[in-house]
Amino acid sequence: MIGKSLVQGVRARVREPRRRLGRVGRFYRLIIALNVLFAWLLLTLFSGYKPSLALHDIRKCAIDNLRDDLSFLDAAKPIRTDEFLERRERLARALVASNADAFILEPGYTSQYYGNISQTDWEPWEPEERPFLMLVLPEVSESGDVLAKTAFLAPHFEEGRVRMLGIPSREELDIVTWEEHWDPYTTLRRSHIFANFHSPEKRRPPKLVVDEEMRDFISRGLANAGFETVGLTPEVELVRQIKSPAEVEILRAVNTGTVAAVRAMRPCLVAGLTENEVRDILDEVLISIGFDMFFNIVLFEENGALPHGGFIVGTKKATEDTMIVIDVGAHYLGYSSDICRSFFIDPAQRDVANPFLGWLRLPDSTPGRLSSRNARDVAHLGLREEKLKVWGVVLEAQSAAAVALKPNNTAAHVDLAARSVIEEAGYGERFTHRLGHGIGIKGTPYSIEPVLTQLT
Ligand SMILES: *[C@@H]1O[C@H](CO)[C@@H](O)[C@H](O)[C@H]1NC(C)=O
Ligand SMILES: *[C@@H]1O[C@H](CO)[C@@H](O)[C@H](O)[C@H]1NC(C)=O
Repeated sequence: MIGKSLVQGVRARVREPRRRLGRVGRFYRLIIALNVLFAWLLLTLFSGYKPSLALHDIRKCAIDNLRDDLSFLDAAKPIRTDEFLERRERLARALVASNADAFILEPGYTSQYYGNISQTDWEPWEPEERPFLMLVLPEVSESGDVLAKTAFLAPHFEEGRVRMLGIPSREELDIVTWEEHWDPYTTLRRSHIFANFHSPEKRRPPKLVVDEEMRDFISRGLANAGFETVGLTPEVELVRQIKSPAEVEILRAVNTGTVAAVRAMRPCLVAGLTENEVRDILDEVLISIGFDMFFNIVLFEENGALPHGGFIVGTKKATEDTMIVIDVGAHYLGYSSDICRSFFIDPAQRDVANPFLGWLRLPDSTPGRLSSRNARDVAHLGLREEKLKVWGVVLEAQSAAAVALKPNNTAAHVDLAARSVIEEAGYGERFTHRLGHGIGIKGTPYSIEPVLTQLT
């Protein structure tokens, strides 16, 4: 009881001064509340919308956009066993034309092409010191037909693992095995694979075309064991350069899909995102449709002047005047994409990222809105127009290259068509990256000087 009356007494005393403050107090509180609201609005408007909060939505927006139409994947089917065998048949004919007795290769890009085994299928960690080699040998029948014989050299204790790789083949794999205390190359030279060369009257050593990815110690080991080793011949190189219809469809799908991913993401991007954030979003968009990442370079503004970035840490933030450059590649069914796009983000898309603030938007920087802008804005606008001009020059160069891309033109014709547009526009010195390059399993085969390749 005593406690209760004490509390009531205190309350009564507190109520007194409040009453005296009256309307004036409520007025001050209203002012403070309005100030807080105003400060919040200003902060939200000028602090770049805190993209970290919206990252999830941006990613979802981009993935949903891309998933709207995945028809570019429809025609791409995995390479079938028959096609792997046919590649080895074409290789066998190229070997006959090159006067060679066999083609020899290690797990890598080339073995992916001929045997559906990549280096990481065989050794996920790193290429190891024990040679595991694939050989393709031409067998010429009496009627003159050339067939391909496929054989392997493997450490004895790895034989079972080789058989488990599922290398496409009509019959059981022919594997020459070597024990740990033997010389693998001499084992191969004396094996049944080269029985034709065992008799003394056959003085000529077997001639091997060695794949470009073969490690040097293996090449030297083969030469020391009595093989003649030569590099790729033009005929052998041509086998992989001419793409089959199935390869063309996969390449079309993965490259179209990569462009579609960038296009799907673009309207979802907002000012304030960093290069790394845009890169991570794009990675996830590509992975969401079953692609694997190959590389992804996102550069803003002057960072994009170096094609591969250089010393860029990825923390530059986008504004609506940022020229975004994206050079990205993915893998799908064993084939690569490699595309490059540059663009501004779309100012109208602010509303999507922050629906509450759409009605409060600042005037955007489209040309023609000069009236209320100060000198700094005018300079900005000039820069934006310069960026658009350069973008237009690149589009014109690209279009000229596309026109030159026709049968019997060389890659040099195509490069020159683009180069002359850029030189005429006065940016010749800035054209530091050649026009383009071939693409296939590997992103950028350099096996033939690109400007000398005959287009087919
Ligand atoms: C080639 O390898 C891939 C992945 O390892 C596999 O999914 C595919 O079935 C193989 N293709 C053939 C024809 O064996
Ligand atoms: C390309 O050149 C070859 C051989 O010179 C010729 O037979 C062929 O008709 C040419 N193709 C075109 C489209 O001009």
